Amino acid sequence: MKTKPKTVRISIIGFGNVGGGVAEAVRRKREEIERRHGIDIKIVGIADLKGAIVNENGLSEDAIMKPKTRRKPEDMTSRDVIKEIEHEVMVEATPTNVENGEPGLTHIITALESDRHVVTSNKGPLALEYSRLMELAAKRGKELRFEAAVGGAMPIISLVRENLAGNGIISIKGILNGTCNYILTRMAEEGLPYEHVLKEAQEIGIAESDPSKDVEGIDTAVKLVILANSVFDMNMTYEDVEVTGITDITPDALKLANDAGYMIKLIGEVDRAGGLKVAPRLVPKDDPLNVGGTLNVATIKTDLAGDITVIGKGAGPIEAASAILSDIIRIYS
Ligand SMILES: NC(=O)c1ccc[n+]([C@@H]2O[C@H](COP(=O)([O-])OP(=O)(O)OC[C@H]3O[C@@H](n4cnc5c(N)ncnc54)[C@H](OP(=O)(O)O)[C@@H]3O)[C@@H](O)[C@H]2O)c1
Repeated sequence: MKTKPKTVRISIIGFGNVGGGVAEAVRRKREEIERRHGIDIKIVGIADLKGAIVNENGLSEDAIMKPKTRRKPEDMTSRDVIKEIEHEVMVEATPTNVENGEPGLTHIITALESDRHVVTSNKGPLALEYSRLMELAAKRGKELRFEAAVGGAMPIISLVRENLAGNGIISIKGILNGTCNYILTRMAEEGLPYEHVLKEAQEIGIAESDPSKDVEGIDTAVKLVILANSVFDMNMTYEDVEVTGITDITPDALKLANDAGYMIKLIGEVDRAGGLKVAPRLVPKDDPLNVGGTLNVATIKTDLAGDITVIGKGAGPIEAASAILSDIIRIYS
């Protein structure tokens, strides 16, 4: 006899690129997820600074697409949606803020205290308050999952924690920022200066108008902190990372490296002795870490399995949504 699928009601807090990607991925994959995993995902609440829409029976595609059906933010805030609308999983996709973690930190705490599981793509709260949030989740018997926050679609957290569970992890090293990788790849290929390629990256939407968090290595450092805390059980913050970005790299340096058989890549590395470092490094051309364009890559050094390397898309709404959907499914499998 066919068992009835389990209904999993979700809210999406922050409905920009990633939040919209989650709604789109749920639309595309709902039937398949129900058939393969026995989970019927219903979006019951969406909120951002423009307002909120809720329906405890599940929002229609029509309602999701029409911003005019939203209640004004002053009538219903994101916190109201998290607290008052009955649901099982809160998806948090508001902007990353590494100064104080807000608004994501408050959203995550409110959700856990309201007995919701949390799945987030937001790095700020995890980089600043990882231990506190995990303790709160454990106390409430809820899960806090964040695969999308490090490497987007590239599975790294679950790969290490689940698939490599019997292994000791010695180090993780990789390219965790697609914008820097794109800039360095183009500079090396075309012999163009940094400013020229940055401008080009901004024009095609790969770099933000304020690219400092990416090019100064801050984004990579924040992801390393999340890896250090979640994989190595450390209690690190951004201050513990030695960071150098890519702004001083010249076409000449790339050419010299190239002639000697190397590429220059912005590499983040964390090892179990507690060293956290982000810096441009020479990578042999035949090394698995030598990936081009906006790709992300990570090599995980383990004591039993040896080196495992994963490569994937570190950004993009549907790519991040892929990681978020996997996290939701894993909560129930
Ligand atoms: N984009 C990617 O490819 C990617 C990949 C992995 C991880 N991430 C992370 O995922 C998160 C979302 O990224 P994104 O690209 O989707 O950003 P985004 O397009 O800027 O969307 C952010 C959303 O959050 C809303 N928001 C801002 N402040 C809020 C508040 N106080 N309360 C409720 N909603 C609020 C915004 O509302 P308004 O539009 O009304 O201002 C917007 O809907 C970020 O933390 C990012 O670092 C992004």
